[in-house]
Amino acid sequence: MSTAVIKGSDNAAIWGPYNLIMWLAGIVFVVIMAITAIFTLMFRERPGREAQQIHGNTRLEVIWTMIPVAIVVAITVPTISTIQAQSAPPPADAMKVIAIGHQWWFEFQYPDLGISTANELHLPVDKPVHFELRSADVIHSFWVPQIAGKVDMVPGHTNFLTFTATEARPEPYLGQCAELCGFSHANMRFRVFVDAQSDFDSWSKSVAAKAVTPVSPLAKQGQEIFNRSACIGCHTVNGTAAQGKTAPDLSHVGARTTIAAGILVNNEANLTRWIHNSADVKPGSLMPPMAKSAGGALSDEEIKAVAAYLLELK
Ligand code: CUA
Repeated sequence: MSTAVIKGSDNAAIWGPYNLIMWLAGIVFVVIMAITAIFTLMFRERPGREAQQIHGNTRLEVIWTMIPVAIVVAITVPTISTIQAQSAPPPADAMKVIAIGHQWWFEFQYPDLGISTANELHLPVDKPVHFELRSADVIHSFWVPQIAGKVDMVPGHTNFLTFTATEARPEPYLGQCAELCGFSHANMRFRVFVDAQSDFDSWSKSVAAKAVTPVSPLAKQGQEIFNRSACIGCHTVNGTAAQGKTAPDLSHVGARTTIAAGILVNNEANLTRWIHNSADVKPGSLMPPMAKSAGGALSDEEIKAVAAYLLELK
């Protein structure tokens, strides 16, 4: 037995106690159910039979106290040692990432590299990463089932998580907020790209670069509309007037594979739909509707131009 669920990282250590607890709980379940079934049949009501009254049985009571104590000890020892191993100080060469939960998206800052992104986390393979997990509003939880155990993101309190992703692959690992955090908790997803070091370096370089200047006439028009609209109050596009910090950084949004915290493929149709009225896509979304038809300020043509602009921000 032991095909590790968590195999893409050194977090596989969690699998040991998890496995042990599952087996012990399974055995307890089967034994209790079997005894219940046997006793139900053996001692069922029969004509002419009276229930026998028993008071105390020291041997039996010692046995049913000692077995649970032994089980709890068997669970506690490996659990505590795994918790200690997991919360050991990070190795000196660990890369630092600050992950911040927001309703309903994830912000990822790389303080050592001076870059920041949203919803799509890139990590170099075989490099220890030390996460500082925070929240901007309510309790969220950081969870990438295939590579890392679950840790809560609590407002006003920083939690830590260190792991090394050990399997680079082209398709992303899926992450999900794992703490009920409001309307769109289920729509609060993220993607983790585990890259070869050289791919990670070129990605981080491109994110550190200034946002590109749009080329196509439509995108140019879109930039002009973006910069005179409410967008810039919440979003950043580095090197421009847009310096808002409460919503995802859009400096390189065109290079992301998804939008809306991993729930929509990043393309013109979905961007247009999102800008039109984001709450149609993500219930409770804090981004106000932008389309005139939904109570916003922009015409359908203007929204199309903004979408063209964002797609050029690679
Ligand atoms: Cu954030 Cu659930």
